[in-house]
Amino acid sequence: MTKQFADFSAEIYQAGTKGTLPRYPLDAESIERKGAEAMPDWLLSYVASGSGNGHTQRANIAAFEKWGIVPRMCNGRAERDLSIDLFGMRLPTPIFLPPVGVMGICTQDFHGDLAVARAAASTGVPVIQSTLSQDPLENIAPAMGDTPGLFQLYTPKDRDLAISFIQRAEKAGYRGLVVTLDSWVTGWRPHDLNHANFPQAHGYCMANFFTDEHFRKRLATAPEDDIPAAVAEWERIFGHSLTWDDFTWIRESTDLPILVKGINHPDDARHAIDLGVDGIYCSNHGGRQANGGVPTLDVLPAVVAAAGDVPVLFDSGVRSGTDVVKALALGATAVGIGRTYLYALALGGEDALVHHLRAILAEADLLMALDGYPTIADLHNNAIQRVT
Ligand code: FNR
Repeated sequence: MTKQFADFSAEIYQAGTKGTLPRYPLDAESIERKGAEAMPDWLLSYVASGSGNGHTQRANIAAFEKWGIVPRMCNGRAERDLSIDLFGMRLPTPIFLPPVGVMGICTQDFHGDLAVARAAASTGVPVIQSTLSQDPLENIAPAMGDTPGLFQLYTPKDRDLAISFIQRAEKAGYRGLVVTLDSWVTGWRPHDLNHANFPQAHGYCMANFFTDEHFRKRLATAPEDDIPAAVAEWERIFGHSLTWDDFTWIRESTDLPILVKGINHPDDARHAIDLGVDGIYCSNHGGRQANGGVPTLDVLPAVVAAAGDVPVLFDSGVRSGTDVVKALALGATAVGIGRTYLYALALGGEDALVHHLRAILAEADLLMALDGYPTIADLHNNAIQRVT
């Protein structure tokens, strides 16, 4: 019989009979607590907090409790299939790692981007690499091995620089371009503001800028010789406020499939698709940008309906395998694991992240086995109901 994700559970109990306990916690709360202990205060503040009073961030998580999977009996199968197709890529799992600008500094050696890439290589879980990385995108791609990676673009105001990033990513072997729409300016984050805490202002996670010939041309000296001047230039050019017209030049600059991240309204999904976008990414940035919004899970069904055959990636509030199954049942093509993966990274780098991803997949697989939905297609057959 093929190995199933759920086997992780039996593996843990088996090791327990020999006195070996799991190296890392299996539940999200403990990973968050222990990962937080491993982070310096300034990094923890940046990772943990949301915008405003955190309403949207909490609502994203709470929304999962308002949906329930309906158990069906006598439909359990020893072998489940959680694989998906995405832009011609056959992926062994329906989860992915969303782009996170500071993942590079979540490990103590400050090569977190490489640790995440290696975890992607060994689990088959793809990562969407942020524009804001601590290692240059060209160094990260090879560490992903055979697992395809996607590149996320924060579109700078300098169009030549934006095109340079896109083409560098394509040349480096990334398999898709994710254009983030909801972050052309940083949201109001009181917890970070209280401590004037913004890692990028100190030159962190700027490798793609500092290694780019278009960016370097804008500076009087090499960025490594005058970090404050390079950061000041970065602040000047960061964050082009995109309009739909921009998708003409973005489309012309690459053959990669293009996804738009930050979609919450069916009309925006339709508009993007009419313009030739290949994938929709339903997300509200985990409540880090605009506060006071609707939970992303609650808008997912309408976005999926508007997208038709176009794949819909989803994130915001996903903390467990159960959450993954609920998002799949509501029509997501693939589901992005939230902040917990950063805590795992801080706790034990690649090793802890692989452990965490295996735990999420095992929980999802067991839930689908027990509830009688052996494939993702089965989950689309009235598997989920509103609870309240
Ligand atoms: C992010 N996110 C993000 N998104 C993006 O498109 N580019 C980026 O560089 C970042 N950076 C980033 C940093 C940190 C510290 C966090 C927590 C998040 C948003 C990310 O991709 C995703 O949308 C959210 O993390 C999902 O919300 P939850 O599940 O973490 O609450």
